[in-house]
Amino acid sequence: MRKLRTQRAIAVLASVLLVGGVAACGNSDTGGGGSKDDGKITMGFSQVGAESGWRTANTTSIKESAAAAGVELKFDDAQQKQENQIKAIRNYIQQKVDVIAFSPVVESGWDTVLKEAKDAGIPVILTDRSVDSADKSLYKTFLGSDFVKEGRLAGEWLVEQKKTASGPVNIVELQGNTGAAPANDRKKGFGEAIAANPNLKIIASQPGDFTRAGGKQVMEQFLKANPKIDVLFAHNDDMGLGALEAITAAGKVPGKDITIITVDAVKDGMQALADGKFNFIAECSPLLGPQLMDLAKKVHAGEEVPPRIETEETTFTQEQAKEALPNRKY
Ligand code: AHR
Repeated sequence: MRKLRTQRAIAVLASVLLVGGVAACGNSDTGGGGSKDDGKITMGFSQVGAESGWRTANTTSIKESAAAAGVELKFDDAQQKQENQIKAIRNYIQQKVDVIAFSPVVESGWDTVLKEAKDAGIPVILTDRSVDSADKSLYKTFLGSDFVKEGRLAGEWLVEQKKTASGPVNIVELQGNTGAAPANDRKKGFGEAIAANPNLKIIASQPGDFTRAGGKQVMEQFLKANPKIDVLFAHNDDMGLGALEAITAAGKVPGKDITIITVDAVKDGMQALADGKFNFIAECSPLLGPQLMDLAKKVHAGEEVPPRIETEETTFTQEQAKEALPNRKY
């Protein structure tokens, strides 16, 4: 009798251990390192910050698309700091999210944390901006614009406008934050395009950090130090909008005394273009959310995705801005 009771107790204990073991396996085996096997994808997203109208529109696109796609989004605003992004990514690894996506504030210095994500079996998607890692296996894909092309389109437009200029055309450049892919690449593309006309000279170039305040402050310095400025190339609309204040305060007429070229084409930028204060904008689309959610589902399901997905973009003159403005979504 006693032997029978002992045998039953062992059998009960064994079945408890077996069920517990299966449940534990179910928790950790969610494909891509996910936290729970409820069929829902959890994405950890690290955003650069809230520096510009473009960034606000991008954040809205990501949040709305996640909700529409049934993706559980964990969102972190890094406030322009790489260390905050690295911390957020490490948190997402600890939480065992299914997919990590982020827009890197600068290009360099990501290999260690990306390797940690890879070792944890969590796929990473780069969105908007890329990294300069030599090991491309550290992320699944990069979804975003061709920033070199945006700079080149801006430069080519200027070359065409100034093709009959007989003397020097003085250009000042407001760069994005130091080390950011769009700052590096737009500078490169613009510089390469204007090299076609030896009259076009960049006489000053400084970071305005993609913000209105930065654009205003640096433009004030440019205006104080340079009596003759013919052209401003701002790496985004917000810096251009900030610069408008400095130009007007200096008694000059933006869009006439100084030709203004920017990148982005957010609503406020397009309004300035339609009003004749800006002269040309190379578009950079922030509406990356729907494609990002689609990619997240694919990489989570183990499907192959293209290593690079380029956003479709256009350019706007003042006339085109007037036409496009009523239907502009952001
Ligand atoms: O990475 C995209 C750039 O970042 C946008 O051009 C700029 O407005 C933003 O802050």
